[in-house]
Order: sequence, then C-alpha cells, then structure tokens
Amino acid sequence: MKVLVTGATGFIGSYLVPALADQGSNVVATDIVAEPRWITSREGVEYRRVDLCRDPDVRELVFQARPDKVVHLAGLLFEACEEAPSRGFQVNLMATLSLLEACVAGDVARFVMTSSPSVFGRGLAEPVADDAERLPETVYGQTKLACEHLLDRYRRVHGLSVGAVRFPWVYGPGRTTGLSAEHSSFLLDAIARDETAIVRNADQVGDWLYVRDAIKALILLLECDDDPPVTYNIASGIHSVADAMAVAQELFPDARVEIRKAPGADYPYASSFDDTRARKRIGWNPDYSIRRGFKEHVEEVRRSLAAA
Ligand SMILES: NC(=O)c1ccc[n+]([C@@H]2O[C@H](COP(=O)([O-])OP(=O)(O)OC[C@H]3O[C@@H](n4cnc5c(N)ncnc54)[C@H](O)[C@@H]3O)[C@@H](O)[C@H]2O)c1
Repeated sequence: MKVLVTGATGFIGSYLVPALADQGSNVVATDIVAEPRWITSREGVEYRRVDLCRDPDVRELVFQARPDKVVHLAGLLFEACEEAPSRGFQVNLMATLSLLEACVAGDVARFVMTSSPSVFGRGLAEPVADDAERLPETVYGQTKLACEHLLDRYRRVHGLSVGAVRFPWVYGPGRTTGLSAEHSSFLLDAIARDETAIVRNADQVGDWLYVRDAIKALILLLECDDDPPVTYNIASGIHSVADAMAVAQELFPDARVEIRKAPGADYPYASSFDDTRARKRIGWNPDYSIRRGFKEHVEEVRRSLAAA
C-alpha cells in the first residue's frame, strides 16, 4: 500500500511516517520544509517538498505519487491561526480543499485527516459527544470545522472515503507547536533536561494523549472502512496539570516542579470528550497510561540529549 502523508516533518508526522514504513507501507512524505535527514536515511520513504497552498503543485504531487491512501496532517495550529487568520484559512482549509480535489481526480481510496476538539466551544455538557453542537471560539477551530464540513461534502457528493480524528492534548518528545504544548510536553521536556518545570495553570484540566497512541488511532482510522460516521473524538485520560505533575514527580523523584500562582490563561476549549464512537466503530483504545507515557517521554528525551 502507498500512503501519502502531509505535514510529515511535524510532530505527529515524524511518528506516523516511520510507523507506516515499519508496517510495510510505501510512504510518500511531504511538507513545506527541506527534507529532514531522518527521512533521507529511511527505507520505504520518499520525500516531496511541496507548499500545499499552491493548488497546481498539490495536483502534481498526487498525480506523481499515486497514493492508495492519504493522511493529511499539514496545518497551522492555534497561535499561528490567531495571529494571521487569513493564512490560517489558506493553509488549513484551502489546502485541504485542493488535496481533496486531487484525491478525487487521482482515485485515492481513503482520505484521513486530523481535526480538533477546538471545533466545539465551551459550556457544553462534558464529556463532549461527537455530535455536540460545534461553535468554535478560535480561528483554528473555525478552520477545522470548515474541514469537517468539506469531508462530509466529499463523502456525499464525490463518494470519497473520508475520516477524521479529533485529538485532545497530544504530548510526546519533539512537540514544538500548539496551545496545549505549554502545559503538557514542555513541562516533561523541562523535567528531562533537569530544569524546573514551571506550571502556570495548575488547575487546567485536559485529556492527555500520548503521541504513540495518537498514531495508533490514525492507523486504525486509515485501515477501517467506516462510512459514515466520519469524525471521531479521541480520548485517553483526564488530569489537571497539577495532578499530572504529581505523577511525574512520583516517577522522577528528582524532578523540580514549581507551581506559579498566576491568573490562569483563558483556555478556549472544553476539557473532556466522549470517544465511545471511536472505541466501538474503529476499535480505538489507548495503550499508554499517563505513567507509561510520561516515563517514555522523559526517558526518550534524556536518551536523545545524551546521544547529541
Ligand atoms: N498536536 C496536537 O495536540 C493536535 C491536537 C489536535 C489536532 N492536531 C492536528 O494534527 C495535525 C498535526 O499536528 P502537529 O502537532 O504535528 O503540528 P506541527 O505544527 O508539528 O506540524 C504541522 C506540519 O504542517 C506543515 N505545513 C504547514 N504549512 C504547510 C504548507 N503550506 N504546505 C505544506 N506543509 C505545511 C508544517 O511544516 C509542519 O511540519 C495538525 O493539523 C493539527 O491541527 C494536533
């Protein structure tokens, strides 16, 4: 099977590409940046540098690569979308539209992408159901909601097999972008570097999804043929940042965690999401408890620091 992965050099892509190659898929990895060394040295993976906002280049990419399936991860996250809404819509929405058009023309068998719980506003009954009212408060959430509508259209009108997962706080080594990174991955990175992890929003509650579980959910969605429904909440474990850091301190007794009493940042999303539909229909269930995920995260960062 040949799989085209967009956003391949990003946080989630850099785990997905090797996981697909390990399973025996041929992977065409694409991103806007220069080819990273880890891809050049990877068997079964070829790299194409493409700006997905250039419609003719997207068409050429799909026609040259001829993938059976596409996983679309490229996008701008919360901060970038808030700073430049027009660019946010160009990258998150218009590039997705180009890609969907190219997939229909190129007879792609399945198209899977990452949406986000930011499509929901706050004030809903929690855990938020898949079909709860979607009234996003952020530009990022608006772009993702527009993509969910596009998927629905391409399924109904063009018969394309499509699916999307709404990931909560994905944490793991290598995360550099996104609103939730500050109160998840960056704290664990600080512990791994023997620095003080400074917690500014101890009471914030979120769903902590380890990156390898996120990859599991994407591969399950890519392999299933569930048509409709199309979009799935994914959940793993609900913890406040303070409780999560207490777990980290139990695992790593030398870890220094400082809780700063500052007014919490206004967090524009709900905290917990009902993933019953994903569990029933695509076979989703997490392999990583928060303890297992934290241990692996900190140990992997320490290993790569030691190797550097
Ligand atoms: N990380 C999370 O917690 C989380 C949660 C929910 C949803 N998501 C979604 O998952 C996807 C991947 O997230 P991530 O954490 O890996 O983000 P990331 O920022 O690490 O990766 C996004 C990638 O998209 C690429 N990209 C941006 N503009 C492009 C363009 N014009 N053409 C081609 N490539 C372009 C970037 O170069 C980057 O490598 C995103 O769509 C994001 O919205 C992430």
